[in-house]
Amino acid sequence: MMHYGKAAATGLAAILLASCAAGQPMQMASASYPEREGAGLAHPELWPAFEYPVANPAPAEARIARLLARMTLAEKIGQLVQADICCVTPEEVRTYNLGSVLNGGNSGPYGNDLAPARDWLRLADEFWAASTDTSDGGLGIPLVWGTDAVHGHSNIVGATIFPHNIGLGAARDVALIERIGAATAREIRVTGQEWTFAPTVAVPQDFRWGRAYEGYSSDPAIVASYVGAMVRGLQGGPDNQNLLAGPYVIASTKHFLADGGTDNGTDQGDSSISEQELRDIHGTPYGPAIAEGVSTVMASFSSWQGVKMTGNHSLLTGVLKERMDFGGFVVSDWNAHGQVAGCTNESCPQALMAGIDMYMAPDTWRPIYDDLLARAQAGEIPLSRIDDAVTRILRVKERLGLLDAPRPSERLLSGDYDLLGAPEHRDLAREAVRRSLVLLRNDGVLPLAPGGRLLVAGDGADDIAKQSGGWTLSWQGTGLTNANFPGATSIWSGLHAAVEAGGGSAELSPDGTFTRRPDAAVVVFGEEPYAEFQGDRATLALDHPLTGPFETMRALREQGIPVVAVMVTGRPLYVNEALNNSDAFVVAWLPGSEGQGVADVLVGDAGGKAQFDFTGTLPAVWPLTPDMADGTLYPLGHGLTYASPRTAWTELPVVAAAAQAGDSRIWFAEGVPAAAWSLHIADPTQPGSQTRVTTVPAEALQGRARISAVNHVVQEGARRFEISGGEAALSVSNIEPIDITRETNADIMLLFTVKVDAAPAAIGVEMLGADGTRAANPVSLPANARFVRYGLPLKCLREKGIDMARVTAPFILTSEGRSDIALAEVRLGMDAEVVLPCA
Ligand code: BGC
Ligand code: BGC
Repeated sequence: MMHYGKAAATGLAAILLASCAAGQPMQMASASYPEREGAGLAHPELWPAFEYPVANPAPAEARIARLLARMTLAEKIGQLVQADICCVTPEEVRTYNLGSVLNGGNSGPYGNDLAPARDWLRLADEFWAASTDTSDGGLGIPLVWGTDAVHGHSNIVGATIFPHNIGLGAARDVALIERIGAATAREIRVTGQEWTFAPTVAVPQDFRWGRAYEGYSSDPAIVASYVGAMVRGLQGGPDNQNLLAGPYVIASTKHFLADGGTDNGTDQGDSSISEQELRDIHGTPYGPAIAEGVSTVMASFSSWQGVKMTGNHSLLTGVLKERMDFGGFVVSDWNAHGQVAGCTNESCPQALMAGIDMYMAPDTWRPIYDDLLARAQAGEIPLSRIDDAVTRILRVKERLGLLDAPRPSERLLSGDYDLLGAPEHRDLAREAVRRSLVLLRNDGVLPLAPGGRLLVAGDGADDIAKQSGGWTLSWQGTGLTNANFPGATSIWSGLHAAVEAGGGSAELSPDGTFTRRPDAAVVVFGEEPYAEFQGDRATLALDHPLTGPFETMRALREQGIPVVAVMVTGRPLYVNEALNNSDAFVVAWLPGSEGQGVADVLVGDAGGKAQFDFTGTLPAVWPLTPDMADGTLYPLGHGLTYASPRTAWTELPVVAAAAQAGDSRIWFAEGVPAAAWSLHIADPTQPGSQTRVTTVPAEALQGRARISAVNHVVQEGARRFEISGGEAALSVSNIEPIDITRETNADIMLLFTVKVDAAPAAIGVEMLGADGTRAANPVSLPANARFVRYGLPLKCLREKGIDMARVTAPFILTSEGRSDIALAEVRLGMDAEVVLPCA
């Protein structure tokens, strides 16, 4: 096998060509699998063959050939690059002839992630006009705008938010999927985008994965049964041409391949499975996608047998394009090229050679463009590969009708703002909610009598962001209130309306206290929103503070009030306590904006009879313990109905809380370090002055520092440092260096919650690398009477030269002069109250 470094003398082009000719992935002998010859090398002949059904009409082919012949090399390279609207201007799109833009989960027009719909359309026009401008002598090929409309047009305020895929998987209703695709396409067209990065066809095998809810099911057959329908709903059938003339957009099946098959469910991780499993579990949904003529495929961040997908020629080219005959184009994921062996975010010809046609280079589009162009000019990248990639992109643009379409605002459905959250779309979403609910227990309390007195409790009862999950308005789906969801209905409002319509009454009380004794209570609890690796967990336990409503259930039942538990969740989790402490238990998944769908099934008609029965069944197994060591509680396909015979409840075993924990992104919480972490105070000018802070009160820095406990949220939930003067450094460090490259790439912040009673003369946030490198960012933390959660983008620290793959102390608060500061929490996340500027 050839190695990039060893063969350097023969020139890059020779390596690229040689490895491709041999059908091998670009980064061959991968460092982590030195002993495994052929690891990550697929055998296309063992995979099922397909035929891409989309016609390439002769006039269109001739037109594409003519365009290609007239394009300069720079124009061709431009087509291969996709920038994020955060980090590119229309002027730059004009200058560099970029083929595409996207809005990442946290990007919105003019810097506003929650921008009104008309701003999205206005910006679409601006980018379109820039891309089609020919005044500089270019060909003016229109750009295509991609967005993550993954459960409805989910970045847009007011759009219909459908249940996340896991809930649709519970519904087992193929026709419903196609209708959802069609409604989503229509809403996307209102704001001028043409491309959605959906459907996700992951087949999650380990539900500790933070993206499990983006997959329909752990069963490849269920996923495969949905894919074609979703693609058809979005794009129209494979013979549909000129999509923009109708209510369509192009789709993207993602993430190729085995995004749901990584070891331990680690996001962007490695899947060490065999080629047969790769094909039969994770490859299965791509067949129906290709049979429906899906226009694009997004390559996965993850790797197979140690080789990153984005650099795997045998899979992207050998299997997907050649064996499966995929005729659209392959887009890479968010700077995923930077993870390919031998690549950086700024340079990665390997991805193109492996089979990527378009680079998603959100904030790195310029260096990627420069690098590809320079290498192409130097003859290091074969023109044939560039031409093939451009041709694929142009074919998709041609089929879309983009090459002849007017500006976005002049197209079908553009600016029809009433279509966003239109009643017929909301009805469809409500139907999807109804069909997705899974009943795990019913001792007879359901259906609820409409004429009775209902108490609705739990932290999820009246929280539309929580019931919508990640990828909703913002990337993580956090930082939102019900006011951000005009026209939407929470689970509480749905129940309230249904009970009142039946002549009864309802009271909302998150903590379960009530003014008048209810006949029954619904307690809504579950996961908080998350996306991607932010949702990775060490076990299948519900995060600790979110189990609070279990107490509410217990208390209500002790008073003789029957309890219906409604769980909002992206995945099956160990919640035996909640199952034990309820009289009925309903899994609502992440239902989205139409909470009435829950009431439709839970509340009976005037005669107390069910109006709608449960139809949902588990799309994956339900765990018996957080670590799944004792097998499953319920199998895939399980789900009760109103007709199910009543059986006596057998108490489920409850596991000790300590066995449940495990959120690796929290390093210091409630005033104490997490396991394997420690808090230190030192004088940076005095080697050896370091004191580990354990029990308090304590003194350090030879009497200059007094450390005590103060209350924050919980008793003694913070550590207070009163420093009389001089230099001091508070640090939170791990016994092993940690790797936070993924988080840095995604613009995650270092969050720390402090109360500053006396601000020092100077203060800074520092990070210490395993190689001794320090990155320092001066900040300003004014005195404040309350605790404030500050956030510093990790990128600020990376830019100062620290290796994010090996960080020893990710948080050091340095100060000079007298100060009085209490520290409550240090972790990673997006939910800062105050974002600190990069100095
Ligand atoms: C995700 C993709 C998404 C892209 C654009 C990536 O981080 O993995 O699923 O389409 O970002 O937002
Ligand atoms: C973007 C997402 C993207 C993620 C990559 C975020 O900053 O908003 O769209 O998927 O980074 O992990």
